[in-house]
Amino acid sequence: MSTFSRKTPDQQRSWSRAAARYDEVFLDPYGPKVRNPQWEALDAVADAGSKTVADLGCGTGPLINTLLGRFGRVVALDFAPGMLAKARERVAPEDRPRVTFLQRSMEDIDDLAGTLDVAIANNSLVMPDVRRIHRVLTSIRAALRPGGVFLGIAPSMDAIQYHTMLLYEQALDQGLEPADAERFAALHGEHRYYDFAFGRFRFQGLRQKFWQPFEFEHRFKKAGFRSVALDRVLYPWDENFAGALELAGEAPSWDWSFRAEV
Ligand SMILES: C[S@@+](CC[C@H](N)C(=O)[O-])C[C@H]1O[C@@H](n2cnc3c(N)ncnc32)[C@H](O)[C@@H]1O
Repeated sequence: MSTFSRKTPDQQRSWSRAAARYDEVFLDPYGPKVRNPQWEALDAVADAGSKTVADLGCGTGPLINTLLGRFGRVVALDFAPGMLAKARERVAPEDRPRVTFLQRSMEDIDDLAGTLDVAIANNSLVMPDVRRIHRVLTSIRAALRPGGVFLGIAPSMDAIQYHTMLLYEQALDQGLEPADAERFAALHGEHRYYDFAFGRFRFQGLRQKFWQPFEFEHRFKKAGFRSVALDRVLYPWDENFAGALELAGEAPSWDWSFRAEV
């Protein structure tokens, strides 16, 4: 364990605790009504059966069997033991020899240098300290073989602002004065949990970074990636969103989906 990860046992514990109620609390990018460009990106990996993929911050393992169905070997890494225990349970005994479970922090992957064909980080590049994000991105880049790709999903800060705009206008359209409409949007958009200036979210002991689109180019380039392309995971307006019923006709909300090359 590095000095860095020793400094954040609270986050490890908070994530472990979140494992029990994960599906209730987090948006699911794998649902049938979600448009998730990562499926196509995975389809595009040639000869996956002979390749190694790492699911970094694998959580409860919602992706693990999909990956086992395509790739020859899967590395499933998470620093939260509660998450990893759930991920382990999902794997059939006959597939276990093809999975390596690693309970550690994502920046501690020096031993994987040059071994991965594909790395995935879905909603796990969320360390609120951006120095750690940089260390993680640098480690992931080093872990990828030449020609390797890094796919991921990152929570979107601008989508929260988009939702805020819609809630604010909804309130104005209902005849509220601007000050009251602002209060309505802040309350229903749960602004008390967010730091909009620095892109952070704090909820029940969990601290997460949320991303603005311009950050990807900046941070991935700094970590040595050759390119990064953005797309959106699109979520239907459902019970996960305040005011969903009234928002049904609006363009959907999103998280950022990225594909980076070494
Ligand atoms: C929001 S969950 C996403 C889980 C999974 N990728 C999914 O799509 O459902 C974030 C996961 O990242 C893990 N995580 C966060 N920071 C990490 C770090 N520095 N090292 C390893 N795992 C980390 C958490 O324990 C948690 O399981």
